[in-house]
Amino acid sequence: MREHMPRTVPGVLNDRTDLAAASYLLSKNGVPTGETELTIGSTWTIRIASR
Ligand code: HEM
Repeated sequence: MREHMPRTVPGVLNDRTDLAAASYLLSKNGVPTGETELTIGSTWTIRIASR
């Protein structure tokens, strides 16, 4: 997202907006919340277990 989106003006997302967009996508796709708060660092290592 950070490198390629938005398509017309890539690079405008910051930590806060990046995390908000990622959280929204995960939430809308039914991914359950984890035990620790989602941070920019954790988005690189997130593991989604099968339901
Ligand atoms: C995981 C996150 C995302 C994925 C997988 C994704 C994927 C894509 C893809 C495949 C396209 C079409 C690319 C192309 O035409 O070459 C696209 C276009 C676009 N995306 Fe994303 N996107 C993501 C997040 C975002 C976010 C967060 C924003 C805004 C902040 C955004 C804004 C846009 C815009 C403005 C376009 C162009 C739409 C158009 O051509 O009419 N995207 N995205």
